[in-house]
Amino acid sequence: MRNPDHDAILTAALRAPSAHNAQPWRLVVAEQCYELHYDHADYLPFDPDDRDAYLCLGAFVETMSLAAMRHRHRVEFEPVFSRHGSDFFVGRITLRMADANEQVDALAAATDRHTNRCEYDTTPLTAELVEELHALGCVMVPPAAMSRLVARASVCAWRDPRFVRDLRAWFSLDAASPAGMTPAGLPLTKVETRALMMALKAGRLPAPLASVFASRDVRLLRRANSVAVLTADDLSPAALFDAGRRLLRCWTAICATGFAYHPISIAVDRPETAPDVALICGARNPVAVFRVGHPTRVAPRSNRRPLSAVVQPAMAEQLDG
Ligand SMILES: Cc1cc2nc3c(=O)[nH]c(=O)nc-3n(C[C@H](O)[C@H](O)[C@H](O)COP(=O)(O)O)c2cc1C
Repeated sequence: MRNPDHDAILTAALRAPSAHNAQPWRLVVAEQCYELHYDHADYLPFDPDDRDAYLCLGAFVETMSLAAMRHRHRVEFEPVFSRHGSDFFVGRITLRMADANEQVDALAAATDRHTNRCEYDTTPLTAELVEELHALGCVMVPPAAMSRLVARASVCAWRDPRFVRDLRAWFSLDAASPAGMTPAGLPLTKVETRALMMALKAGRLPAPLASVFASRDVRLLRRANSVAVLTADDLSPAALFDAGRRLLRCWTAICATGFAYHPISIAVDRPETAPDVALICGARNPVAVFRVGHPTRVAPRSNRRPLSAVVQPAMAEQLDG
């Protein structure tokens, strides 16, 4: 028998952010809990060291945790972090009814988190928000310095067939595609969409064309009045998973205060620029870069897979079925 509270919490968890909107999480129904898995081969094969995947999985559990509080439940997470072939068993999630006097997290009410890639105006962030981002492990860095690094990283990425292959796997012209990126979300003009399709077909770009593709993110970053870098204790799966939970809290807090954020990961993804990001922010392990500001437009809601595609029934139900 399905538990309607669990279904509501799991459905809300599906709104978690993920690189390329790949939604690499899978839940297996086990006795009294859900096993959380990630399949490297299926989802983000060119993610260096699975870094983005661990961040996404942390963001997924934190999104679920906030949703559980809204439904008077709490999430208990038991880490496993073990790999068998391409399968990564992240941990066991148990949903329990909250006690009557259990404290509800202030962020639990915020449900409107989404990525916004449009231009931001010059409204400065509030001191409270900056303080909260610091408390969650972010360092605020000069936008001009970061835009120079992103310019370099972007050219390297667009000339790398692995980066382009990953993008090709997760970019779809079908606006209703349940996973991956669509033109509306990026947002791209018709001309930009056509150019992107040509780039994806070519597999890699010559340097001058790569600079043209890089220019949009570089311009947005140069004009940003705030850029944040999230840091982690180290780059182990457990530390990255924890960083993913904090990343989700940063992004939820930003949206809850009427601001917006836009991750630009290539600066930390590329080995050519990641050491310089560490230098700029004065931390050893920068794991995410995002600009933060007051948006000039509302971003469209991105698509998600249905719950039935994410939750696999218990072994017994599979045998019955
Ligand atoms: C670890 C991580 C890295 C991301 N990197 C980028 C990025 O480099 N550029 C970008 O535009 N969006 C990036 N995103 C945002 C995702 O594309 C976005 O979360 C996904 O498309 C779902 O949309 P939503 O956040 O609006 O729900 C990243 C998200 C995560 C969790």
